[in-house]
Amino acid sequence: MAEKHFKYVILGGGVSAGYAAREFAKQGVKPHELAIISKEAVAPYERPALSKAYLFPENPARLPGFHVCVGSGGERLPPEWYSGKGIELILSTEIVKADLASKTLTSAAGDTFKYHTLIIATGSTVIRLTDFKVQGADAKNIFYLREIDDADKLYEAIKAKKNGKAVVVGGGYIGLELSAVLKINNFDVSMVYPEPWCMPRLFTSGIAAFYEGYYSIKGIKIIKGTVATGFISNADGEVTEVQLKDGRSLEADIVVVGVGGRPLTTLFKGQVEEDKGGIKTDAFFKTSVPDVYAVGDVATFPLKLYNDVRRVEHVDHARKSAEQAVKAILSEGKSNDEYDYLPFFYSRAFELSWQFYGDNVGETVLFGNNDPEAPKPKFGTYWIKDGKVVGAFLEGGSPDENKAIAKVARVQPPVSSLTELEKDGLSFASKI
Ligand code: FDA
Ligand code: NAD
Repeated sequence: MAEKHFKYVILGGGVSAGYAAREFAKQGVKPHELAIISKEAVAPYERPALSKAYLFPENPARLPGFHVCVGSGGERLPPEWYSGKGIELILSTEIVKADLASKTLTSAAGDTFKYHTLIIATGSTVIRLTDFKVQGADAKNIFYLREIDDADKLYEAIKAKKNGKAVVVGGGYIGLELSAVLKINNFDVSMVYPEPWCMPRLFTSGIAAFYEGYYSIKGIKIIKGTVATGFISNADGEVTEVQLKDGRSLEADIVVVGVGGRPLTTLFKGQVEEDKGGIKTDAFFKTSVPDVYAVGDVATFPLKLYNDVRRVEHVDHARKSAEQAVKAILSEGKSNDEYDYLPFFYSRAFELSWQFYGDNVGETVLFGNNDPEAPKPKFGTYWIKDGKVVGAFLEGGSPDENKAIAKVARVQPPVSSLTELEKDGLSFASKI
């Protein structure tokens, strides 16, 4: 069994790993000092593409086109970039044991990797219906989406079941993005979720009403307030029917499940402090264990703006937390600025595109034209807490308008009248 030594190891080869590698290179990491160990077979890429252009029927996105850092307008880093910098990409390698005391990682094949400094960037895994023992949930053609391998399997099934029936279980990010892309592939799509409206962890009922209306116009059937309790399959083991708790059943050639994610922290249980389901870090992404950092989806970090600690499962934070950690590692005791993050989430589906900045707490004000039949819908919502705007959402904004709502969420201007704010709408943000 081989044993390798590196000064720096990034465990995980996703979004954070790619942006961390770029920052290491910028700061002048020497050849053979840095390794990225990933169970995926490909160099770090922009994961958001998997639920969008990767599944398009025409000209789908494919690697090397969406390696990091193109998602934020940066240089694309194909595998040759890493070899050119002397950064070792150790792919198709799952780490099954991490011993933080002896600074040793062990792979499924039994190889060991020693490090001086470790960055944990293992991201999230999907929650499966089999975890809740839903009957028949292990049938063929029930898909989850996290990694490129999952997307390849789904893409093949979309081709094989051309113009078929799809049931999407879950009304969150995956549910909304996958329902759209399956419809674009000409599937007959039904969405099922337990809540009274889609994406309840961010959307207000007013925001959700627009998307539900728009999806209905596109021909997507939305079934709310119930869950999938069982799946029927044919003699080949392929799913044919989804049974719902309310007694209904839906025919299905393909099922896509998006019922949430779970941060991958199991390798480190009992070895490092945790908080809110993630690995607890300081404002430089340093954990409770010396020389161990955690970034991206797995990190629970101080969110200075809200004097709170949070875990964020979105790509902008994955990129920025990785850069912050590398700067801290390489500055060797020199003082750096604390992470001062403004939460930013976005999604795209059909011709729609929204952005959200800040915190979704307090009272809300909906503004603009949220008629789903409008040719160019543009509307938004402000969240107001203690008399100040703390969050802003905008559908259909231009780059300048999106910048304006980001500024509002950062500046937190006071508001005296919610009625005036509603009337001012987007122009309130544009004036800040
Ligand atoms: P990420 O998941 O990117 O990478 C983790 C890596 O670690 C993977 O390569 C994994 O294989 C590897 N790994 C884990 N355990 C390992 C082990 N034991 N051994 C070896 N390797 C291991 N966000 C957003 O803001 N807008 C968007 O549009 C989208 N869209 C989107 C689509 C889809 C399909 C998904 C799944 C997610 C999104 N996201 C998103 C969320 C965003 O992609 C996510 O927050 C970041 O990818 C998190 O980056 P990390 O580097 O933390 O994990
Ligand atoms: P999510 O938390 O956004 O949504 C989960 C949804 O599952 C809930 O809203 C609920 O409707 C539903 N649900 C829960 N239990 C259910 C059940 N038993 N039956 C039916 N529905 C049930 O999680 P997700 O959509 O699975 O996304 C997974 C991860 O990927 C998250 O980290 C997310 O942030 C990330 N992601 C982000 C984006 C984006 O930011 N645009 C896009 C895709 C994925």
